[in-house]
Amino acid sequence: MTSSERPDALPPALPSMWRLCKLGYQHEPGLMATSFLLVLFAALPDALIALWLKFLGDGVVHHEPRVVLFSALGLGLSAAATWFLRTVSTRVQRKFRDKVTIALEAHVARLQATIATIAHHERPDYLDRLSVLRNQMFVLDHMYMSVFATASWILRLAVTIALLVSIHPALALLAAFALPTVFTASWRPAVERRTQERVAQPARLARHLFTLATTAQPAKEVRVTNIGPRLATDRRAAWERWYGPVASARNASAAWHTLAWAVFGAAYVGAVVFVTYVLRATAGDVLLVLAAGARLSAYVGATVGEIGFLRGVWMDGSRRLAWLEDYAASLTAAADLPVPNVLRDGIRLEHVSFAYPGTSRLVLDDVSVAIPAGAVVAIVGENGAGKSTLIKLLAKMYAPTSGAIYLDDVPLARVDADAWRARLAGAFQDFYKFELRAQHTVGVGDVPRVDDAVAVAAAVERAGATDVIDRFASGLDTQLGPTWPGGVDVSYGQWQKLALARGFMRDDPVLLILDEPTAALDAETEHALFERFASAARARRSSRITILVSHRFSTVRMADLIVVLDGAHLVEVGSHEDLLARGGQYAELYRIQAEAYR
Ligand SMILES: Nc1ncnc2c1ncn2[C@@H]1O[C@H](COP(=O)(O)OP(=O)(O)O)[C@@H](O)[C@H]1O
Ligand SMILES: [Mg+2]
Repeated sequence: MTSSERPDALPPALPSMWRLCKLGYQHEPGLMATSFLLVLFAALPDALIALWLKFLGDGVVHHEPRVVLFSALGLGLSAAATWFLRTVSTRVQRKFRDKVTIALEAHVARLQATIATIAHHERPDYLDRLSVLRNQMFVLDHMYMSVFATASWILRLAVTIALLVSIHPALALLAAFALPTVFTASWRPAVERRTQERVAQPARLARHLFTLATTAQPAKEVRVTNIGPRLATDRRAAWERWYGPVASARNASAAWHTLAWAVFGAAYVGAVVFVTYVLRATAGDVLLVLAAGARLSAYVGATVGEIGFLRGVWMDGSRRLAWLEDYAASLTAAADLPVPNVLRDGIRLEHVSFAYPGTSRLVLDDVSVAIPAGAVVAIVGENGAGKSTLIKLLAKMYAPTSGAIYLDDVPLARVDADAWRARLAGAFQDFYKFELRAQHTVGVGDVPRVDDAVAVAAAVERAGATDVIDRFASGLDTQLGPTWPGGVDVSYGQWQKLALARGFMRDDPVLLILDEPTAALDAETEHALFERFASAARARRSSRITILVSHRFSTVRMADLIVVLDGAHLVEVGSHEDLLARGGQYAELYRIQAEAYR
């Protein structure tokens, strides 16, 4: 896959949010529905208070004690229900959020792990998206709450407007008059912040002068030079240069806000006057307009505010998640062919070029080589020549930028990465230090047999790591890593041997990779290890391909095929004897090392 095919843009907001909602519902259907309904119900009693007031007013005016009693009860119940529903709903929401957060974390972790290549761990723009997802998981569960809250504010608003319209349709206009307060309320902090930023420098100067005049360090010089009074006046001046603009910005924005409220207030009074004198409505209706109208501006403000929140922060989180889902899906979609069980011909690289994600320098440049089934292959080359990179491409950690890799005749790009990796074994150069019990540190190399002590012991033996385990007080049961209870410190060399043992856990891999896994061992041990290992591989006559990277020619020379890389190019391929006879780069390097050992 080339970079142009990657879905780079974040998906649109509304579909992303809808997907997140569905995701929450898949994981916690009951809790999600309950908390949504509770949030809605909790909104109702509050919005209905105006209605009870209307009945109360009419009851009082018409001397109907039963109506008065009924509406007084309604008012009381509304107040109690508001509290009760809010309490219950908070609890249910808490539970929903906790559970959904765990589910989403697992979802994101699984998505990241299933993405076949590890390119997303390296591109800065992807990393940024992922780190936001990883570190701010709470953003996503907030989104549910924000969606619910938005729905509940809209419900309150709708009920209130419906009540007003039930008296006269024109009263719906009152909602429009509340809009200026919303604008000024959201505009005020922004203007004030801009002004603060504009005059940040005098503010800093004032603080600096204050520190200068009052702290111990400059005290001696301040006294000797007698600049104290000067500092005080300068500070005062700086403070005024800061405060003047800030105060006028605050006053101006307050004036606008007041004006906006005045507009709403006038409309409110107008509505009451209209209902009382023009419509000649009942006392109850007037009460309703008084109560509903007063709430209206708060409801409009809260609705707009919540939607702003939803758009600004929470939506962004859902888009990132939707992007990750799409990205993961786009990468697995192409994997439609099965992994060959045994290799007939071998692995073939055809004009493979590669640049790391987000960079343009080719780390491998037009590399073509055929590796026959059953071969032991050594890759040699200086540091940075691209050896580890070639191995990462073979493990499908990255896709070649151009060219292709074939397993027999199956393009590696089209086999499922998980299935392919299940057939790999070995150790990477930058291995990971799993701080588990030694048994598991090695055993995770073949997860189905992680607890199989016999298999683990065999892998340890194959890797020549028996001495490492023997030195641990509780053998394979020893906890590794000193920060864990009872954990022991493990040296780099020991870690490396354990990583190698982990790489030997799988019994019958198609491809065995050994990328300088023994660099911490001495040359003889490494040689002995590979000798044993290569002869075992040959004796079995399996189709397994073994690829090893080493700087030691004593090890390299026993490979069937030696691939020499130099500055991203493949320069020589052949057996030890071929390459020596050719007298090229390999022969030269071999001669230098042989002399050094002489
Ligand atoms: N993750 C990476 N991102 C960008 N460049 C990388 C990355 N890993 C390796 N490189 C670069 O690729 C080149 C080849 O690296 P590598 O394959 O590790 O070399 P070798 O294993 O032969 O020493 C080096 O120049 C290295 O700096
Ligand atoms: Mg390397």
